[in-house]
Amino acid sequence: MKLNIKKIINKKRKSKIVCLTAYSKSFAKILDKYCDIVLVGDSLANVVYGMNNTHKISLETMIEHARSVKLGCKNSLCVVDMPKNTYRNKKIALTNAKKIIKSTMCDAVKIESNFRNETIIKHLVNNKIAVMGHIGFTPQFHKRFKTPGKTNSEKIKLIKEAFKIEKAGAFSIVLECISTETSREITKKLNIPTIGIGSSIYCDGQILVTDDLLGLSGFYPKFVKKYINLNKIIEKAIQKYKKEVTRKLFPKKNNSF
Ligand code: KIV
Repeated sequence: MKLNIKKIINKKRKSKIVCLTAYSKSFAKILDKYCDIVLVGDSLANVVYGMNNTHKISLETMIEHARSVKLGCKNSLCVVDMPKNTYRNKKIALTNAKKIIKSTMCDAVKIESNFRNETIIKHLVNNKIAVMGHIGFTPQFHKRFKTPGKTNSEKIKLIKEAFKIEKAGAFSIVLECISTETSREITKKLNIPTIGIGSSIYCDGQILVTDDLLGLSGFYPKFVKKYINLNKIIEKAIQKYKKEVTRKLFPKKNNSF
């Protein structure tokens, strides 16, 4: 049965919310069977386009991939990342969020926060766009990796920010690489679900970049658990293919017309 925003919110404190990223229909189709939320993350920039960061991925590219992902999402909620600079102010944000929703038919957008995006979130929500927030380590606004929330002042700042995002009307919030204690506190205090990535077991749900957990991306920071090494499995298949082509063992009669 198709999940909606209300059902996702209702999962808080009842059952964990399972989320992963997808950039194409083929992956989305598999994830759709097991995930509550499928995110078309702007990690697309690193994972698929080999960019050094997420800063240059375009709205059009995100939309093309989101269209493909949506085709595979029958039951899960499909959320699309708004790329850097596409929500610089309320007007630009609304135009672009509308464009994403209209051209992809996805359910919501995600916006990274830099301690001043609540008014933008509020504006989108007031205009019937569902928004997922994202605080902590926000790759669009940080150059170097860091784990925020370790000092008391950072903790207070993050809790305040999380509250503002909830008040602005976001239906959930990603907590990226926030210390265990701070993510636990935020999760306890908020009424909307928190989705952790590198932010402890206490979050209401978890998200990872699918290519990381499959061992495809070559990027394995501490918070990633590699559930399988697909790189190795794919390599073995390609080696076998090469061997069979060079030894004239493929194609056989049954592969030919
Ligand atoms: O871009 C992305 O994939 C993300 C998730 C890792 C949360 O923002």
